[in-house]
Amino acid sequence: MQDMKDIIDRINSLKAEHNAVILAHNYQRPEVQDIADFTGDSLGLSQQAVETDADVIVFCGVDFMAESAAILSPEKTVLLPEKDAGCPMAEMVDVISLDDVKQEYPDAAVVCYVNSSAEIKAQCDICCTSANAIDVVRSLEEDEIIFVPDKNLGTYVSHFTNKKIITWEGFCPTHHQMRADDVIKAKEEHPDALFLAHPECRTEVLDLADEVLSTTGILNYAKSSDAKEFIIGTENGLLHRLSKENPDKKFYYLSEFTICPNMKITTLESVLNALENMEYVITVPEETRLKAKEALDRMLAVKR
Ligand code: 13P
Ligand code: SF4
Repeated sequence: MQDMKDIIDRINSLKAEHNAVILAHNYQRPEVQDIADFTGDSLGLSQQAVETDADVIVFCGVDFMAESAAILSPEKTVLLPEKDAGCPMAEMVDVISLDDVKQEYPDAAVVCYVNSSAEIKAQCDICCTSANAIDVVRSLEEDEIIFVPDKNLGTYVSHFTNKKIITWEGFCPTHHQMRADDVIKAKEEHPDALFLAHPECRTEVLDLADEVLSTTGILNYAKSSDAKEFIIGTENGLLHRLSKENPDKKFYYLSEFTICPNMKITTLESVLNALENMEYVITVPEETRLKAKEALDRMLAVKR
């Protein structure tokens, strides 16, 4: 097995050779986050994919994120280091079922969470992420919104608007397993801690949160808050940056089991393999790409 320093040196030299940039989601393994040029939430990563002048984007995340980068920047080579890094929630909505619901509500706008396939994005009016979902819904003229695929996020958004939100039965298995009892127990163990939760959590969990935020929202909040202790209701990979960027503060995960297996399959070895062999290239058929891009561009134009 290669020594970690050798792997990192090799990654850095191949990065320079290919004019590549490494983007990593906040849930990635600590060592992968540490070699990335930019680590962020889904919205921040999409913005970086547009703004970078690199020729190659190595996307350390899951497939829909790399797909979004390929949709937004077709002139760049987008690599997903692990081809099986998918998102189970994204697979919970399909084009035919969505079309049935669109026919049932012909006047509704369709908002899709970025955790969805390019085909689904192509069928939607606008995308959103956990960071801008409320602003996106408020930006629309329509009074009825079909919101796919995350039921928890859709329900959360519905509390901030008078619009009728038609939710889908999708969920993130990682976030959905956290329960109100876990929060009550954690608050008993850490009575001075604030509870920061991601909107993919169940309503019963979000009802107990001090703040509901995207992953980068949690990072920003923890940094600027006067509080010294936080219970974190999202995938546990976020604790790496939280602890690193706030050495004087304490962070507790809500449950040791809040791990997304798909986010953890990318390793330093797979990043190295991606750069050595230029794999796995993510592309989207042009017709789908153009339609999906409209929904992503419309989202990126909404003020945060
Ligand atoms: P954000 O980082 O955008 O909050 O997304 C969370 C997530 O589940 C990505 O898969
Ligand atoms: Fe999908 Fe949930 Fe994993 Fe995010 S944390 S990639 S929503 S399964």
